[in-house]
Amino acid sequence: MQIPTAKFKNGNSIPLLGLGTWQLTGKKCRDTVKTALEIGYAHIDTAEIYGNQKEIGASIKGFPREKLFITSKAWMKNLKFEKILKACKKTLAELGTDYLDLYLIHWPNKKIPIEGTLNAFAELQKQGLVKSCGVSNFTIRHLEEALPKAKSLGIEIANNQCEFHPHLYQKELSDYCTKKGIVFTAYSPLGRGNVLEDSAIKIAAKKYGKTPAQVCLKWVLQKGAVAIPKASSRQHLEENMLVFDWQLSKEDEKTIDLLNKNQRIIAPFFAEFEDSRNNFIGNIFK
Ligand SMILES: NC(=O)c1ccc[n+]([C@@H]2O[C@H](COP(=O)([O-])OP(=O)(O)OC[C@H]3O[C@@H](n4cnc5c(N)ncnc54)[C@H](OP(=O)(O)O)[C@@H]3O)[C@@H](O)[C@H]2O)c1
Repeated sequence: MQIPTAKFKNGNSIPLLGLGTWQLTGKKCRDTVKTALEIGYAHIDTAEIYGNQKEIGASIKGFPREKLFITSKAWMKNLKFEKILKACKKTLAELGTDYLDLYLIHWPNKKIPIEGTLNAFAELQKQGLVKSCGVSNFTIRHLEEALPKAKSLGIEIANNQCEFHPHLYQKELSDYCTKKGIVFTAYSPLGRGNVLEDSAIKIAAKKYGKTPAQVCLKWVLQKGAVAIPKASSRQHLEENMLVFDWQLSKEDEKTIDLLNKNQRIIAPFFAEFEDSRNNFIGNIFK
């Protein structure tokens, strides 16, 4: 099955569904990625901090590189010019690939001026090591600051990857990204499994003869976002792919919009404690 794509401003495309790999490590990661490729996944989301790039590299070995879309992310301590060049090369070596399709700033870090990071992105693109660049966990304020700087350096911020699911419908942020031509990616699109327990999601699933996970993913896709659910069983992997040949009605989509609780699962105090987020996020990933 060919997964539909969204287009970045620079003309490159990203498959609308990818495999999230946070907390997939070791043999489990190798097996899951292999199964995903067998089933037809062509988009893998990883990050240097996930500690699984070597395993992903082992699983994609022999798979035609041009048929794969790989995203990785530079950790927030590695955003200075020299460090990000080094981090990217390490990521490429671990993955056993010559280039990344998408390289993201994992979290904003106000202690490191973004100009250096963007300059490094420009250099990585010039060297052909990265096809498209973007950000993750950027709020509108972060983007307002970054976009003019990127423009002056001739860099496109192609993508913003953020937590997004029916309990955290970041409408203002996703609309802002769309307006600016930034493709929006929903991470934790199943709310790490929590949203699947919502009775309204279960009711919709029953109505459509789908599973709660499929309803969540369909809602995310209908909002114009790319979805990167993590799944580790063949059943979940297969189920999550079956979201392209049916639609939620406008009415049901709106009902799910109303489930929003502004409930963050990842870094729940991110919005409130933005100033101290470096320490906070550091703890989360320990
Ligand atoms: N940029 C960032 O800062 C950031 C932060 C968080 C996540 N991410 C990315 O986003 C990806 C996805 O987010 P996530 O891992 O936090 O959570 P998620 O994808 O919302 O949820 C994953 C959970 O849902 C379960 N699941 C998957 N498919 C299912 C199905 N069809 N039915 C029932 N349960 C199902 C999984 O169980 P099984 O494993 O048992 O299948 C797992 O427990 C991550 O893996 C990572 O790549 C990025």
